[in-house]
Amino acid sequence: MSDFERQYTRVDTVRKILDDRIFGIGDPDRQRNAFVHLYGVGQACAMIALKRGHDGNYAELACIAGMLHDFVKFEVAGDIPAHAKKSALRVWPLLQATGEFTEEELTMICTGIANHSDKLRTDDEFSEIIKDGDAMQHWLRNPAEAFFSEKSRNVALQKEFGLNGDPEKRI
Ligand SMILES: [Fe+2]
Repeated sequence: MSDFERQYTRVDTVRKILDDRIFGIGDPDRQRNAFVHLYGVGQACAMIALKRGHDGNYAELACIAGMLHDFVKFEVAGDIPAHAKKSALRVWPLLQATGEFTEEELTMICTGIANHSDKLRTDDEFSEIIKDGDAMQHWLRNPAEAFFSEKSRNVALQKEFGLNGDPEKRI
């Protein structure tokens, strides 16, 4: 393989699953929101995992969990009750069917997805990355506002990433 040849990864497998899902959403506005949020959270999760010292393989799993964390959302406006747990239940068989994930990896990914709505609780390290990735994407999509429930997470992320701002540059 040359240096410039792209390597096929499990993120590509998941991208196909996710794109199928998003293209199945009728409303173009919700489709756009789904693309921006789900791929955005995937990237934020990868960055947070790497920042916390994990390797590329772990960051790949975090990216995948981030991409799929709201899998059952976006069909309708507003929140869907228990969407985190419902998403985990939908995602497990889809990932298992690819044959590309071990049982342990499926457990990590689906536990992270199932826990992601409980932002005021602290769970295992992987789940915390998915929650923080979710919070970070919401924040960076519009840096001037943050959901109340995610505020303390974003304050901590600003500190962790050195994004507290220079008081002299405040407008
Ligand atoms: Fe989300």
